[in-house]
Amino acid sequence: MNIIHASLAAVALLVASGVHAQDAAAGKEVFAQCTVCHSIDGSNGAGPSLKGAVGRKVGSFEGFRYSRAMKSTAYSWDAKSLDTYLTNPAAAIPGNVMPFSGVADAQQRADLIAYLAMLK
Ligand code: HEC
Repeated sequence: MNIIHASLAAVALLVASGVHAQDAAAGKEVFAQCTVCHSIDGSNGAGPSLKGAVGRKVGSFEGFRYSRAMKSTAYSWDAKSLDTYLTNPAAAIPGNVMPFSGVADAQQRADLIAYLAMLK
């Protein structure tokens, strides 16, 4: 690769990874690590379905047996509460039993939440 090609590749990378606020398509890829437990079609698995989760009260999806900690959390899921939860689930809602340590990357969380918000 010569120097011009190298710098063109660098520019392409910057454009691809750089300045987007949130991207539901990218969020769908991040969501791949959630699908082992969470459906988007309204059926419960190891975790509650995340269909319509944004705007719903925490721990209230029909037919899922939540932990006491999650059931007794009084707020609803929005971009801010999801961002806090998905950063560090155990710290955000102590005693919840989601066996998942979180998504460390802030951009990945923003994309993921944009995707979740589309699941009506
Ligand atoms: C290994 C299984 C597993 C994985 C992987 C997992 N979760 Fe969960 N999730 C759960 C369980 C179980 C609960 C319910 C916890 C409770 O009742 O304390 C839960 C709860 C949730 C809730 C609260 C839902 C509600 O109805 O209030 C959200 C939001 C959530 N998970 C998002 C995610 C996202 C996004 C990912 C991927 C980044 C993910 N989870 C990965 C098992 C999982």
